[in-house]
Amino acid sequence: MSPSDQAQRLRELVESLAPSRSISITSGKGGVGKTNVVVNLAIAMAKLGNEVAIVDADLGLANVDVLLNLNPKYNLYHVIERHKSLEEVVISGPSGVKIVPGASGITKVANMGPKERQHILSELSRLQHIADYILIDTSAGINRNVINFVVSSDVALIVTTPEPTAITDAYAMIKVISQRKIEQDLRLLVNMATSKREADEIYERISMVSRQFLNMEISYAGYILKDDVVVNAVLQRRPFVLEYPYSPAGRSVTRIAKELLRSLSGKMGNGGWIDRLLGWFR
Ligand SMILES: Nc1ncnc2c1ncn2[C@@H]1O[C@H](COP(=O)(O)OP(=O)(O)OP(=O)(O)O)[C@@H](O)[C@H]1O
Ligand SMILES: [Mg+2]
Repeated sequence: MSPSDQAQRLRELVESLAPSRSISITSGKGGVGKTNVVVNLAIAMAKLGNEVAIVDADLGLANVDVLLNLNPKYNLYHVIERHKSLEEVVISGPSGVKIVPGASGITKVANMGPKERQHILSELSRLQHIADYILIDTSAGINRNVINFVVSSDVALIVTTPEPTAITDAYAMIKVISQRKIEQDLRLLVNMATSKREADEIYERISMVSRQFLNMEISYAGYILKDDVVVNAVLQRRPFVLEYPYSPAGRSVTRIAKELLRSLSGKMGNGGWIDRLLGWFR
């Protein structure tokens, strides 16, 4: 084996041992495009050669499966009820993305008893064996349940749109996260921007006030342009990154995926996000 082959093998070995990295996707205001971001970003990352899993933690109105036209037989509810193991509810989506379907209308994790919570989270932790990256779709809004997911993950993507109410709510979310007084890799994603310039200005504004008033550093995950293909893809229940890869929205998502992977490739996931999550619920 040549030295470069050996180096490659070693790299693969190290990567296979590295704990997966968890990325939560959240927002202050609802309807800003989180689920579309999760689904299309996951597929873009998978197409770039990674094992990716999605957890639909939007326990109120689960809709990752709806966007992908999947009809899962089982979901997190069956795991919570101990009727199924995690492996039995995971389904394979486009580009090999693994999906843990959420459970509509079930009681929130925060309202579960300690035993149930421990059970569901230890089941979820098994995802670390099947994925390099775990994307968590949370529900909108500031509640303890969502914040716990956000502050436990390795990276938190906060999605906003140019709408003033979405910006105000994104800032409110950042403020609540800042009150946990932990170091959190927080990144802003501007969706439905009409231009790069508009998106960049929104990022500048939010990062400036966050630094000034909250002493929080927010990095920039990038932007996705407002694009009719997203609306069409939702109606077709097909991911726009596959259906319209060269559209403005398709290109934006691929760019965000590449940048995210680049920024995380040197960084080991600190694993144990489930442990941190459990810690917060105690
Ligand atoms: N880049 C975009 N361009 C045009 N329309 C978009 C874009 N992103 C999202 N949308 C529209 O916004 C709608 C809501 O998106 P999505 O369901 O992903 O939001 P969400 O934040 O997950 O909502 P919720 O808070 O209810 O979970 C989509 O159905 C689509 O019509
Ligand atoms: Mg959603």
